[in-house]
Amino acid sequence: MNVLLFNGSPRKRGNTEILLNAVAEGVRQAGGSVEVIRLCDLEINPCISCGSCNKTGKCVQKDDMMALYDKIDAARRMVIGSPIYFYGVTAQAKAFIDRTQALWCRKYLLKEKGGWPAGADRKGFFVSVAATKGSKIFEGAVLTAKYTYDAVDMDYGGELLVKGVDKRGEMSQALDDLQKAEAFGRRLLG
Ligand SMILES: Cc1cc2nc3c(=O)[nH]c(=O)nc-3n(C[C@H](O)[C@H](O)[C@H](O)COP(=O)(O)O)c2cc1C
Repeated sequence: MNVLLFNGSPRKRGNTEILLNAVAEGVRQAGGSVEVIRLCDLEINPCISCGSCNKTGKCVQKDDMMALYDKIDAARRMVIGSPIYFYGVTAQAKAFIDRTQALWCRKYLLKEKGGWPAGADRKGFFVSVAATKGSKIFEGAVLTAKYTYDAVDMDYGGELLVKGVDKRGEMSQALDDLQKAEAFGRRLLG
């Protein structure tokens, strides 16, 4: 099974990237494959609330998000990774998420399903890192992720959250967390 991994961090060799790489390693250990998509390399405009998707279930904006709609529909497992920025996900991740509004419209307004077979087991996961250790640091972002997976018609499979990592690459020293990330990756396919 192929797993779609979206990285919402703009930082190359950053903590989200390192954590997602460990998740990807776990997926491969379990016999799966991965496609990693770095959102900041793509042109994904913010939703402009034009309302077209209310009637069609499709977005009128012609940018790199067009290809991602097809990938999301084809996927059975998907991961959104983002560092915490101001108690939420990054702007790049949020632009991507807001554009799934077209799929929310397809599901809830038009009552249509995507092209996958009825009863297909589709699951989405959230991976995040934050510099601080507050008890509520991931709350907003987890809610956003859960709502996104509802919009794209996937069950929420769970999250992997690491607190207290800030400097670029610091994640590579958190060996316990990286082991947990591999185990998380291995379980993703089940
Ligand atoms: C604009 C901005 C906002 C941030 N906001 C928060 C925050 O609200 N809480 C927090 O704990 N860390 C915050 N951080 C720190 C990042 O979550 C942290 O550095 C993380 O490890 C970055 O991951 P990355 O290397 O994958 O980009 C912020 C960082 C930036 C650049």
